[in-house]
Amino acid sequence: MKKNIVVLSGSGISAESGIKTFRDSDGLWEEYHIEDVATWDAWVKNRELVLEFYNHRRMQLAAVQPNAAHYALARLEEKYNVQVVTQNVDDLHERAGSSKILHLHGELVKVRSTLDENLIYNIGYKEIFAGDKCEKGSQLRPHIVWFGEPVPLIAKAAYMVSEADILIVVGTSLQVYPAAGLMHYSPVGCKRYVIDPASLPLDGISNLTIIRKKAGDGVPELVNELLEL
Ligand code: OAD
Repeated sequence: MKKNIVVLSGSGISAESGIKTFRDSDGLWEEYHIEDVATWDAWVKNRELVLEFYNHRRMQLAAVQPNAAHYALARLEEKYNVQVVTQNVDDLHERAGSSKILHLHGELVKVRSTLDENLIYNIGYKEIFAGDKCEKGSQLRPHIVWFGEPVPLIAKAAYMVSEADILIVVGTSLQVYPAAGLMHYSPVGCKRYVIDPASLPLDGISNLTIIRKKAGDGVPELVNELLEL
């Protein structure tokens, strides 16, 4: 039987594709205040700015490509059941060929109704504006989990992690909860890998290999190793 690999990814995996991370020195949260663009209050106060922020990021996404790390993770499916759980709102795992992807924090290429959260639309890389409405007549918003909002898929993600034989954490500062707590759901005996050039808060995590490298180097190396096992 194939072993289960769960990959927890964050913005660092897309950095080498040209997408900014959030908390690095040149990260997005240096340029913007979270409370201006990524909260419900921001949406109520200045919807145009919020829409512009996500329109801009969607347009950037159209111009970038997956990198060696995304492609390597897709190759893992040759030998393993692979579930990607990503905090990223980009679609680079999809475009690299991974088939099972859970987006914890939403997706840039989708928008949803502000009236009915089940009315979700694929818009690709197009912009949306104030006045763009769902079929029930309410304003469309980005399909993004903003700060202060619940993370609807967290229980599903925790269950996936609890089934992992191998857990690969890549490109996340592990500062944003509840996502940062997911590692703790991995079962006893799970083999854990963390790939990140920075030193992360990993006290108390056992059976752990830390790979202090960029994703574009560290992920393909680890994938080659795992495919040879
Ligand atoms: P952060 O910006 O907090 O962390 C990025 C991580 O990527 C850091 O640990 C960096 O060291 C690492 N990194 C940078 N370049 C890398 C590279 N080339 N290869 C591998 N790692 C690299 O981003 P996240 O942890 O993803 O949420 O942030 C979590 C959430 O906070 C995001 O999903 C977003 C944000 O606010 C929402 O927007 C809801």
